[in-house]
Amino acid sequence: MAEIRFDNRVAIVTGAGGGLGRSHALLLASRGAKVVVNDLGGSVDGSGASSKAADKVVDEIKAAGGQAVANYDGVDTMEGAEKIVATAKDAFGKLDIVINNAGILRDVSFVKMTEDDWNKVLQVHLSGSMFVTKAAWGLLRDNNYGRVVFTTSAAGLYGNFGQANYSAAKLGTVGLAKTLSHEGAKYNIKCNVIAPIAKSRMTETIMPPDVLNKLLPEYVSPLVAYLASEGLEETAQVYAVGGGYVSRVAVMEAEGTYLDPSKGVTIEQLAERWKQVNDMSKARAFNNAMEAAGQAMKAVMGG
Ligand code: NAI
Repeated sequence: MAEIRFDNRVAIVTGAGGGLGRSHALLLASRGAKVVVNDLGGSVDGSGASSKAADKVVDEIKAAGGQAVANYDGVDTMEGAEKIVATAKDAFGKLDIVINNAGILRDVSFVKMTEDDWNKVLQVHLSGSMFVTKAAWGLLRDNNYGRVVFTTSAAGLYGNFGQANYSAAKLGTVGLAKTLSHEGAKYNIKCNVIAPIAKSRMTETIMPPDVLNKLLPEYVSPLVAYLASEGLEETAQVYAVGGGYVSRVAVMEAEGTYLDPSKGVTIEQLAERWKQVNDMSKARAFNNAMEAAGQAMKAVMGG
């Protein structure tokens, strides 16, 4: 197969000073992309800031013969996001690819979670993804080309103890990506989502080293690069990825049951059909909200 390349493409990778983002940036740059390496350079909980992390990755890219520029703004304000996008425009003249990767953790049980723990995590993951994508959207539209990758998590897709803030923020990125994929379709802007698992400072305290060493970020980045590539056909999709495993994830709706309104839709009828309501054996995924709503309309239309 011909090598998949990114020559003449300009990419922003947020949170690229370490972990997964660094790996995404290195791979894209090694295949010809001009990369804005964004990182605030703070700690896992979002406190502090430093230019060192982004600078180091830019140096690595340049040492390998690639092109990159650093940006140290936070994704968590519209102003920061606009500066990140301006860095791409000023350094490379355009923008084609946005990888929304920056993230923080403030894990705590729901009982102990403060409003600040909630707000800060939503601000970085969900609002941050929106701010950067919104700041980029005009340039992508002008190009009539865009590849946007969002980062969710199994915690968002399935839930995880102690991560109510993170789960809510991460699943929010899925809804954002799905709607933007519809709005971007006519401009050839494709939006997809990854749910990674990888060794990073975020996971090094929760998994043993021998497991983590099988989950290198380098095993996740090829999917990100593929989702950023010109030949990509998919949009509005979510992919689980880690350690060499890659798989599409979908929200599925069961075939369900239809209660006849002319006979009254009652609690007892529902209780009698509860098994059919929950039977996922013929579950389907829908391409958009109208298609899903069509299932209820079938009942209304007597279908
Ligand atoms: P990491 O902590 O190494 O990387 C996150 C980067 O984002 C850091 O370099 C940090 O400085 C930067 N960052 C934080 N707040 C920022 C802000 N406001 N503006 C700009 N940069 C900021 O962690 P990792 O694991 O590489 O995480 C990358 C993404 O993958 C995150 O969105 C995370 O939630 C997600 N993820 C990671 C998983 C894993 O197994 N490592 C699992 C599921 C999701």
